[in-house]
Amino acid sequence: MKLAISRYGARVLPNTGELIAGAIARGEFLEGPHVAQFQRAFSDWLGEGVHSVPASYGRMAFHYILQALNLPKGSDIVFPALTFWVMPEVARAAGYNPIFADVDPLTFNMTPAAIEKVITPKTVAIVPTHVWGMPCDMDEILAIAKKHGALVIEDCAHALGATYKGKNVGTLGDAAIFSLQTLKPLNTYGGGMAVTKDAALAEKIASVVAGEPAPTEEIVKKHLKLGKIQRITIQPNVFSFTLFPLLWTCAYLKYNPDPYFWEKIRPLSPLPMEYRERYSNVQAIIGLESLKHLKKWTADTQANARRVSDVLRQVPGIKLPEVPADRTHAFYQFCAYLPNRDAAVFACLKRGVDLETLHVDVCPHMEIFGGSQSPVPGADATTEAVQIPIYESLSQEQIDRVARVVAQSAKA
Ligand SMILES: Cc1ncc(COP(=O)(O)O)c(C=O)c1O
Repeated sequence: MKLAISRYGARVLPNTGELIAGAIARGEFLEGPHVAQFQRAFSDWLGEGVHSVPASYGRMAFHYILQALNLPKGSDIVFPALTFWVMPEVARAAGYNPIFADVDPLTFNMTPAAIEKVITPKTVAIVPTHVWGMPCDMDEILAIAKKHGALVIEDCAHALGATYKGKNVGTLGDAAIFSLQTLKPLNTYGGGMAVTKDAALAEKIASVVAGEPAPTEEIVKKHLKLGKIQRITIQPNVFSFTLFPLLWTCAYLKYNPDPYFWEKIRPLSPLPMEYRERYSNVQAIIGLESLKHLKKWTADTQANARRVSDVLRQVPGIKLPEVPADRTHAFYQFCAYLPNRDAAVFACLKRGVDLETLHVDVCPHMEIFGGSQSPVPGADATTEAVQIPIYESLSQEQIDRVARVVAQSAKA
């Protein structure tokens, strides 16, 4: 029997257990020298002149950047219409109005033309999300921001390892955030990073973070445990006998279980107390070790994307991600459009390949942001996309199987 392939894969160090045990034995689980070392290594990895400040979450990195910038309250911040709801909600909780610009359904990213439509003298910042790991049109976005006197804060939660005109994303605007959650390009079982080339801003961000409570053993252990459960459940030999039968049953019953897999959508003012914690030393130890593998993980994922694309390109009606020549895609997710999407997704599941449909949000339609029913054509079109598993931990045989199964299911 062939094992089923999950929609998500985690980047896991084979010696994670040893690293954690070593940190405990040395009394460096919560605090120690590795946070500063990781911070420097992360900055060096991104490029010259970069300063990084670790945080408990990517969203908190964004919160700290907003605190440090201290932009006038009540002003507008432009987000893509397609993004994770938490980011505009963090801005709202900090006293700003999130304004949404539509995206290009082929790149999934906000377009310069859409930003021009919503930007006003009240706009103080633009937050381009490099959705799924594809860099946005940064030159054009930076030019619009400059013209309107707005700052650019890149959301690189999906995109560590992606480049734009030879530079790493996260180094292109005034500041940036990264997420270090279990499924993200660099997995430290939770955490985030605020990044900027502005030394004075970095210092301010660091001083805001320094005011947060020290990490507690209970919470850090909970993050590590939860991450372990997550990464084990999605391994083919466990996934096939746990989540997969559940997804299969749901598909037969035409029931969508996805909302249960994701964080509850809710107002974030005041910010939940469990968000407020400094980054732990043990996570920094895992981060330092993981950084050594990041180039290879990225290259292997990109190679898998090419291998799957070569097969799927032959199938009429499939639309694949197109990466402009001046940038590289980190492929946190490989998103494509299949003919007869729902039937194809079901057919893949029956053949043991689990595809995810949309997992970020079309924010303007969400109740929390006013629930507008007006169409957002680009973002609305992306709800027809699927995420095809191509993550680096899949073997070449599994990648070929994914390509074959998706191709057959899309033709059926
Ligand atoms: C696009 C995007 N931005 C920001 C975040 C926030 O990252 P974190 O969960 O580390 O707060 C996420 C998390 O999934 C995301 O998908």
